[in-house]
Amino acid sequence: MKTNAFFLGKGGVGKTTSSAAFALALARSGKRVLVASLDPAHNLGDVLGVKLDGKPVEVEPRLYALEIDLNFWVEQYLKESRDEMATTYSYNLTLNLDSFFDIMKYSPGTEEYAMLWAIEHIRCNLAGDYDIVVYDTPPTALSLRFLAMPAISNMWIAELTKMRERILKKRNTITRINPDSPVASSCVDKDDDKVYGKLGSIKRRLDLLASLFGKESYVAVVLNPDKLSVSEAHRIKEELDRIKIPLSAICLNKRGVSTASWVLDERLATSPMFEFDFLPGGLHKRDDLSHIDTSKLVADFLATI
Ligand SMILES: Nc1ncnc2c1ncn2[C@@H]1O[C@H](COP(=O)(O)OP(=O)(O)OP(=O)(O)O)[C@@H](O)[C@H]1O
Ligand SMILES: [Mg+2]
Repeated sequence: MKTNAFFLGKGGVGKTTSSAAFALALARSGKRVLVASLDPAHNLGDVLGVKLDGKPVEVEPRLYALEIDLNFWVEQYLKESRDEMATTYSYNLTLNLDSFFDIMKYSPGTEEYAMLWAIEHIRCNLAGDYDIVVYDTPPTALSLRFLAMPAISNMWIAELTKMRERILKKRNTITRINPDSPVASSCVDKDDDKVYGKLGSIKRRLDLLASLFGKESYVAVVLNPDKLSVSEAHRIKEELDRIKIPLSAICLNKRGVSTASWVLDERLATSPMFEFDFLPGGLHKRDDLSHIDTSKLVADFLATI
């Protein structure tokens, strides 16, 4: 059995509804489940009928939920980076860290990193108390960016590591030729070099997340019987292929909502499809989630290794 499940898909297709219904069904079948919303515009608490925050709240026996506080994780990420830079460059008093971090807060990639460290926190500090962690995700663009982040960042880390190795090698040569050179007092050995060590520790953190997404997760794409959500599901599948995250399932939600014609892109047919009926009366309270029949999806999830 995989220990994480992600529900991806276009805005409004039913990611929150499907992940909550799936988590509820698993908890009612006897598993301990944490359902975590990664969407900065949270509504998981409304769907479960419980007020949520960044820490797990018991919703009912065996079912716990949280909504990550993205701002907290952005601040945390900036603080870590600031502390790191202040120590590494303590000699450089001309570097104005305050203005640097004001810019970094709004830089592309900051939200994605914050999201990754929030998931790392759930994986390392919370997941041990549960059999399964279910993630309700933000709309496609942000989700795909944070899922791709470990692979992209690791390419950077690999290049920076090579560069650092070259610097250390050059320092070593200079020190051998001229032991009195100022370089001789700086670090020449990988094992003692702070920067080299830091690159290694970032790589280990990113590898853990890459393995969480690519190996330990059941990734489902939710769509509706309409052309737009099918096209978006297809784009998600292409992107997941590119970053080597297997697509475990397609969830066709709101079956019967319209009579408009639509076809499932055959390129999506490689994953099993599970269908949830449109509930014309809507969903108003937690128990309404049990009318979304996730039993086949749950069975498929429990059968995965
Ligand atoms: N099977 C269903 N039958 C009837 N209504 C549904 C069904 N699934 C979802 N809905 C309704 O559709 C709306 C959108 O659902 P939901 O919030 O789960 O989508 P989402 O993909 O999480 O949206 P967002 O991208 O905004 O996070 C909600 O009002 C929800 O109650
Ligand atoms: Mg949602």
